[in-house]
Amino acid sequence: MNIPVYIQHAPTVLDGTAKVWIDDFLAGLPKEATILEIGSGTGRDAEYIERKGYPVIRTDIHQEFVDHQRTAYEKQVYIYDVTKDSLPPNLPQTYDAILARSVLNHFTLEDLKKIFMTLAARLNPGGKLAFNITKEFDLNEIASILKNNQIQIYETRAVEGEQWAYLLCGKKGK
Ligand SMILES: C[S@@+](CC[C@H](N)C(=O)[O-])C[C@H]1O[C@@H](n2cnc3c(N)ncnc32)[C@H](O)[C@@H]1O
Repeated sequence: MNIPVYIQHAPTVLDGTAKVWIDDFLAGLPKEATILEIGSGTGRDAEYIERKGYPVIRTDIHQEFVDHQRTAYEKQVYIYDVTKDSLPPNLPQTYDAILARSVLNHFTLEDLKKIFMTLAARLNPGGKLAFNITKEFDLNEIASILKNNQIQIYETRAVEGEQWAYLLCGKKGK
């Protein structure tokens, strides 16, 4: 990925299916909920969520995105590689909600087995997980991996003509 070019062309406004999906993700979450974002990128979605009154722990694997968000929004972004689960020790270690938009499609199903295990361990009981994935992935297989990690899909939004399926999931408990 050429990150400067990506940043230049990335949409700056959250709209369409993704906006409805994020609104549903936030519905019912108390304002003091802890929210972790994996692969924040340009920070568009974290900004939207924070403007609604929810603080977000923003993370990304690439320093360029950290620098971009610091300049654009004066926001702190932490370096985090979801495959290595390298969450800095000064951050909360578990969360009420985790968002990963347009990140998990970069991995194989084998990688996803490990990643979902990691994310499940990072979610509090009853916590929410929202991610989208391209439609080439078999959603039944994804559902089965999630189920093995005590996570259930409770909504899938897959609009005809769009390449993404948007999922809302919850971890058992509470
Ligand atoms: C297509 S961008 C999406 C950015 C943002 N979530 C959005 O929807 O605009 C993918 C993001 O995932 C990040 N990423 C890629 N591999 C990652 C990894 N192993 N751990 C964490 N983030 C990763 C990239 O740096 C990039 O910010």
